[in-house]
Amino acid sequence: MPITSTELEQYQRDGFLVLEGFVAANTCELLRARAAELVTEFDPGGTISVFSTTAQNHVRDNYFLESGDKIRFFFEEDAFFEDGTLKQSKERSINKIGHALHELDPVFSEFSKTPEIKALVADLSIESPLLLQSMYIFKQPKIGGEVTCHQDSTFLYTEPQDIAGLWFALEDATIENGCLWAIPDGHKLGLKSRWVRTATGMEFEIFDSSPWREDRLVPLEVSQGSLIILDGLLPHKSLANRSSKSRHAYSLHVINGNSRYPENNWLQRSVEMPLRGFD
Ligand code: FE2
Repeated sequence: MPITSTELEQYQRDGFLVLEGFVAANTCELLRARAAELVTEFDPGGTISVFSTTAQNHVRDNYFLESGDKIRFFFEEDAFFEDGTLKQSKERSINKIGHALHELDPVFSEFSKTPEIKALVADLSIESPLLLQSMYIFKQPKIGGEVTCHQDSTFLYTEPQDIAGLWFALEDATIENGCLWAIPDGHKLGLKSRWVRTATGMEFEIFDSSPWREDRLVPLEVSQGSLIILDGLLPHKSLANRSSKSRHAYSLHVINGNSRYPENNWLQRSVEMPLRGFD
């Protein structure tokens, strides 16, 4: 059994759970090598898309909005000089790859559907689980951008809300290189907003405009191979990485297949590629 009843109680109480040593070191290295290959093969051409949670400049960015059933590459906001050329190599400039690696890439697909992950999700009591989204996050040295405090359910909303984020540390994550920070038991305060599609683009539907209690954030420093499970309602963030070390992570979001998945969520799949579970 991947998690004990005590750990499950801890997850329900705090909204997150850290499981050290969940992924073997050689598997972490295999995933890192595969991501490096994907970036090397990626030809940006004219499709430069920047991922930023501070500027929200991907709001009208179709390259982002249509990436739910594709493998796409997003640059760090600080990757460019003013003239638009890259400050450092392409390999050192990508913020993340998303959002259907778990479906379309054989290496990430095999990892995402391992019996250990399937059993873990069963322990979390997510019914008829569907693998909604995957991201490979680089948090590049020096330029890795901040991700502001948010709840994943803002972006991946279901009714009822039953979603878990599985965040696999493929390298050590420390305060220095931009580890996750979370507000323990903050998942009990309800959803503050939803990011919804409108006729003209995306906008936030606000339910609670009070500020985050960022004074309650705690750092989740973990070693390579650790898994952090995050309730979709848990407020969390990560600071910019100004260190010389990267902080690679792979994240996978699983939803309850019996929940309603609204058509105005940003992430949509084509009819030819419906959401799938672990089979
Ligand atoms: Fe998140």
